[in-house]
Amino acid sequence: MLIVTALLAYLLGSVPFGIVWARLFGLGDLRKIGSGNIGATNVMRTGSKPAAALTLVCDAGKGAFAVIVARILVGPEAAQIAGVAAFLGHCYPIYLGFRGGKGVATFLGTTIALAWPVGLAACGVWLATAALFRISSLAALVAAVSGPAIAGFMGYGYLIATLSGMALLIFLRHRENIARLVAGKEPKIGQKS
Ligand code: G3P
Repeated sequence: MLIVTALLAYLLGSVPFGIVWARLFGLGDLRKIGSGNIGATNVMRTGSKPAAALTLVCDAGKGAFAVIVARILVGPEAAQIAGVAAFLGHCYPIYLGFRGGKGVATFLGTTIALAWPVGLAACGVWLATAALFRISSLAALVAAVSGPAIAGFMGYGYLIATLSGMALLIFLRHRENIARLVAGKEPKIGQKS
């Protein structure tokens, strides 16, 4: 049951909602726009706020949905595994030859479903950093690091390993963003390139 749940969560996580919404809104192939990433930040570069918002909600929602269903059907350990599987699905989607996104929205949705106070606090960190610097990748990196720290601080120690693993992968997926941040060349939110 656990393996089936993880597999289904991975397949759900693999659905590239950014590409789907960009196509449905007639915005073209997202992989050929801006950073080429399949996430909401890059959908924003098309100028369509509704498509970006839908991408954000669906990418976060698939992680949350996987966690909630796994918790109901199997149990709390399965919930963590399903969240990680959905997150891995987003980063390495089977439908796109395993070339996926950076996992930020799915990480936040998964975390909200695993422990909503931790997830909402991590979202708050993302929002505060984004409001301050107007750079999505920087907000993502700070929120990713804050996730396990907040979990420990709020008494959700059992989540630290899972959230740390996801945060590590988020950093690896942001290697090019980090290089641009260091060079002072990372675009602001909504900026085309
Ligand atoms: O959530 C993705 C964001 O952190 C970076 O996206 O398109 O600027 O590489 P992008």
